[in-house]
Amino acid sequence: MHADARGLALTASSADAVRHYDATVAAYLRFDKTIGDHLKSTLAADSEMPMALVLRGYFFRLFCKRDLESRATKSLEAAAASLAARGGSDGEKGHIAALKAWCAGDFVGAIACWEAILLDQPRDIVALKLAHFGHFYMGDAENMRDSVARALYAWDTDTPGYGFVLGLRAFGLEESGDYESAERVGRHAIEINPQDIGAAHAVAHVMEMQGRARDGVVWIDGLEDAWGHCNNFAYHVWWHRALFLLEQERFDAVLAHYDKKVRVDLTEEYLDICNAASLLWRLEQMGVDVGQRWGELAACAARFKDEHILPFIDAHYMMALAADRRGEEAQTMIESLRAHATLSPESEAQIFGRVGGPLCEALLAYRRGEYGRVVDLLLPLRYAWRRIGGSHAQRDVFTRTLIEAAIRAERLALARALLAERTALKPNDAWTWKSFARVLDGLKDTAGATAARSRAYALLT
Ligand SMILES: [Fe+2]
Repeated sequence: MHADARGLALTASSADAVRHYDATVAAYLRFDKTIGDHLKSTLAADSEMPMALVLRGYFFRLFCKRDLESRATKSLEAAAASLAARGGSDGEKGHIAALKAWCAGDFVGAIACWEAILLDQPRDIVALKLAHFGHFYMGDAENMRDSVARALYAWDTDTPGYGFVLGLRAFGLEESGDYESAERVGRHAIEINPQDIGAAHAVAHVMEMQGRARDGVVWIDGLEDAWGHCNNFAYHVWWHRALFLLEQERFDAVLAHYDKKVRVDLTEEYLDICNAASLLWRLEQMGVDVGQRWGELAACAARFKDEHILPFIDAHYMMALAADRRGEEAQTMIESLRAHATLSPESEAQIFGRVGGPLCEALLAYRRGEYGRVVDLLLPLRYAWRRIGGSHAQRDVFTRTLIEAAIRAERLALARALLAERTALKPNDAWTWKSFARVLDGLKDTAGATAARSRAYALLT
């Protein structure tokens, strides 16, 4: 029995295999392009190393693509057979149980397994990061924050990966609304490791939530030279930069940034498609012509529209289909989503039915100009859609859609109430004040509209 970089028992045939395994985990923490290369080196050193096979299974599942699921299952079977033959630690058995649950479609069960591992192995950074990912896509901000807090007692500055744990902690703090602590912890993580794009991302979220658009651009521009090693997660952080530009109404800069950074590679990665769709949707809602950019996104969405891995992803596929006027495919997707919600044994199927389905219907109705129906669908969901996962910043596109639909449906009293609420939540958001002014104009509240408009212009100039 060997031990990994943090002292956890690890079944491996040689110290060389352990060294490559540690490099794989380190690359995973850094969102590094070389994750796959390090994993191949690990398996070249020990083709039956249980945790290397488990990692391979996890990585296949993390792509969120149905055609990779069988490869995750094969990795699970190989890992389980290897562990049965060689014996192994409780932590390794826990990881096999987690991957087994995930491969069976029990994402909730997988998260419970990672949390169970952490009770005995708080330094298990793979369990910690995957639990964090799971809580994120369950919309469970409190557990994003607390899962890390429950483990941090076992870490100190000398533990390899400590800074990355702080990065996870920062994002959990941000999503649960403790912006001051999130920024402090996130900045500390970057002091430890300037390459930590995850921590940089957490701080960018703080700036987004606080309406610090100029700070946000400066923050990302000041760090991005350290991200040359990063995989497609960099596109997501550049998406955040685009949001900061959008909030300043620098629309030409947003479109240029979209083409040069956010969507420079026309990948099929789900997060890349979500970033792009969310940005184009917001741009068009603000009256910006996005040209032909929807076409390739809709083509991707059409290929994966019936997969239903996560309702968050489905909502973004629906945006692309609806925006590209692929009404028939969008309708087919809604029907297959309903069937998935009813028939699938997967643990998240109910969320597809209760939240994902009406959300997708609303997005399609929006593009069809059925604004009253959008309001009727979205209004009861606004405190429930966190359950589809994603961040507050990502889900804000649904709030903006609800408000815009209420205005276009001439349900102005409702729009006024929603915007009044939003001015309290996001007092530094120019779009909110401009929309508020627009609604108050419609309600003949001239003084209120003038005051709101001047707040918007003060923020924009
Ligand atoms: Fe983000």
